[in-house]
Amino acid sequence: MQKPIYHRLANSTELEEGKGRPYELEGHRIALVRHEGTVYAIDDLCPHADASLAFGPVENGCIACPWHYAEFRLSTGEALSGPTPRGIRTYAVEESDGQVSICLEMTASGEKAETSSED
Ligand code: FES
Repeated sequence: MQKPIYHRLANSTELEEGKGRPYELEGHRIALVRHEGTVYAIDDLCPHADASLAFGPVENGCIACPWHYAEFRLSTGEALSGPTPRGIRTYAVEESDGQVSICLEMTASGEKAETSSED
């Protein structure tokens, strides 16, 4: 089995507790969010109307869309409330030696990610 490839995306110091930041990697718009010390990587675009989730409030393991308040669980991408039932993708994250890296092929739970035909 091929070893998953991690791409360096940010310095740890860029990510403030309780906040997200948007990034782009190989055509994917990704939000990195530090919450209670852990860094999560999720799709940045809200599936409702493409707001940047990176700028949404973070609370209780969830991030809310800043436009119409759809709420998503950071660890799974599950949609919990709001105007869309569609969840978002998560990405596997590694943080070490002051660097944050993500894997496009794996979800946060370590499963192989489904890739859409648009990728
Ligand atoms: S754009 Fe995110 S809930 Fe509408």
